[in-house]
Amino acid sequence: MTGTAGEQARKAAEGLAYSSGFGNEHSSEAVPGALPVGRNSPQRAPYGLYAEQLSGSAFTEPRHQNRRSWLYRIRPSAAHPPFARANRGEIRSAPFTECLPDPNRMRWDPLPEPADPTDFVDGLWTLGGNGDATQRTGMAVHLYHANASMERRVFGDADGELLIVPERGGLLLRTEFGLLRAEPGHIALIPRGVRFRVELLDATARGYVCENYGRPFELPALGPIGANGLANPRDFLAPVAAYEDVEEPVEVVSKFCGHLWTATYDHSPLDVVAWHGTNVPYVYDLRRFNVIGSISYDHPDPSLFTVLTSPSDTPGLAGTDFVVFAPRWLVGEDTFRPPYFHRNVMTEYMGLIEGAYDAKAGGEGGFVPGGGSLHNMMSAHGPDRETFDRASAAELVPQKIDDGLAFMFETRWPITLTEQARDAAHRQRGYDDVWQGLQRHFRP
Ligand SMILES: [Fe+2]
Repeated sequence: MTGTAGEQARKAAEGLAYSSGFGNEHSSEAVPGALPVGRNSPQRAPYGLYAEQLSGSAFTEPRHQNRRSWLYRIRPSAAHPPFARANRGEIRSAPFTECLPDPNRMRWDPLPEPADPTDFVDGLWTLGGNGDATQRTGMAVHLYHANASMERRVFGDADGELLIVPERGGLLLRTEFGLLRAEPGHIALIPRGVRFRVELLDATARGYVCENYGRPFELPALGPIGANGLANPRDFLAPVAAYEDVEEPVEVVSKFCGHLWTATYDHSPLDVVAWHGTNVPYVYDLRRFNVIGSISYDHPDPSLFTVLTSPSDTPGLAGTDFVVFAPRWLVGEDTFRPPYFHRNVMTEYMGLIEGAYDAKAGGEGGFVPGGGSLHNMMSAHGPDRETFDRASAAELVPQKIDDGLAFMFETRWPITLTEQARDAAHRQRGYDDVWQGLQRHFRP
C-alpha cells in the first residue's frame, strides 16, 4: 500500500454518512435531483443518467423476500467489452470435488503473510464449502490476506453475496452504492454482482469471507423474544450515493460460476450518482449485537446468537447462518457454562476476530485470532479438557465474558475442503489432542 493511497483511503473513510435499516427501501442521491421521483424509469432520467435495475431476487419472489434496487448511473453496466478468463489464484468454488468430505475435526492457524503486493482479490484463499454455485445453493469459506489496496480494479461476484469479516486491518469498500468502512469487529456485506473496490486503511488486512450462494442473508425471526433484540435493524448501515466520474482504464474482475473473468473498461463502473431500493451493501458493528441468554439455568443453543440467516426452502432450516459470540454475562445456576459437548447435524466453521473463545484455549497451537476450526456434521466437539476441568470446578458467580469476539458460519451441508486447505502448512495437525485426557469420572 503506498502512503498516498493509504492516506486517501483513510481520509475518504472519515466521518462517512450512512442510511440505516435492514431490508427497508433506502434512497440516496449524490447530486440533488438525480433520483427520479414517482417513477423508476422515466423517458429521460435526470442529468442524462441511465436507469438500471439490479435484482437480488427473482422478480416474482414474495414481497418480504424481494430485493431490487434502481441505479442511476453515468453509463449503463451493459456498456462493457467482452470478458476473458483470468487466473483465479487461490479462489475455488462449489461444487468442491478436490477432496473427500472428511469427518475429522480440523483447525488452522492464520494465513501466512501475503506476497508483496497482494490486494483483496489476489489475497482470497478458499478453505472449502458446499452446494453448487451454478445452482445457487450452499456456501464457501474464504480467508483473505492483503497488503495493498485494489487500484484501478473492481470486483463483483455473480455467484453469491460476500459476507466479509475483518480480523486485522480496516477496509474501505468503494461500492456502486457508495462507501462503507469495515473495521475488525464489523461485518460488511456485498450483494451478489455488486461491483466494489477494497482499499486498505492499515498496512495489512486479514479476515474471513462467507460466500453465500443461497438466498440472501436476512434477520432471523424473533418468535417469543419479541419485537427487539439480537441484531437490531437500525444498526445495519447502507452507504449513501457516491460516484466516480473516471474516464480511464479500469479492470473489472467478475466471478462467475467458479471462475474469474476480466475486462478492461474505459471508465469506472462505480459511477452510480443516485439509487434507491432494498438490495444494498451494508456494514454492521458486531458489538451492537444484543446478546440474549439464560438467566436461570442451562446454556441456550447457539442459534440464539444468530446475526443473519440465509433461509432454505424448509422452515427453520438455514442454508447458512452467521452467528456471533459477543461479550456477555454468564449467570446460570448449577450449569456447565461453556458451550456444551455436542454432535450437530449442521456443520460449523468457527473463526476468531479478537481475544479468546470461552470453550478453547488460545495461544500457540490453540484457537487464535485469524485462525479457524471446522466441525463437520455429526463430528463430536465441545470444550477442551482444560476448559472442562475449569468450568466443572468453577464457583458459579456472575461472570462477564468480555475478552473475545468469535463467530461461526453454520451450514446445513458438510464443508468439503480444498486441497490447499487440507495440505496447508498452517493447518494444526494435532487438533484432536485438545480432547485427549478427558478423564473418566464415572463412579457407579
Ligand atoms: Fe458446535
